[in-house]
Amino acid sequence: MAKKILVIHGPNLNLLGQREPTIYGKVTLVQINNELKRIAKKRKVGLTIIQSNHEGEIVDLIGKTKAKFNGLLINPAAYTHTSVAIRDAVASSGIPTVEVHLSNIYSREEFRQRSLISPVAKGSILGFGAKSYTLGLEALIDLLEC
Ligand code: DQA
Repeated sequence: MAKKILVIHGPNLNLLGQREPTIYGKVTLVQINNELKRIAKKRKVGLTIIQSNHEGEIVDLIGKTKAKFNGLLINPAAYTHTSVAIRDAVASSGIPTVEVHLSNIYSREEFRQRSLISPVAKGSILGFGAKSYTLGLEALIDLLEC
């Protein structure tokens, strides 16, 4: 049976393209999602994509992943640096998780230089703009195929 992957985009990522383009680039979320769908089709995996600005909603979604999905690709956005709840949800989900960021959070403001999610993720890809997502998805699929 085809593997299923859940993609979660955290807060403000719905604004990509217009939001601080010198940091996050001009690519929109729709364009990123289209590219992810193209890769999923090529690699024959199922993809569900959700964007949410709400921490509790993201926690609820991750809590349901084990029953429905084989892997999680997540850009927790600002919650990366603050959310123990999302970290705990990822840790208890029991499915491989890849964390992605458009920007290199370690070269930015001090408050962004800590990810609560990285220690519970299988791996993290950051700093490559929209390409972080495609690299992250390919890495997750490779992981699931092994
Ligand atoms: C981000 C980095 C976060 O610090 C920021 O709050 C975001 C986007 C990134 O993809 O570079 O919203 O996760």
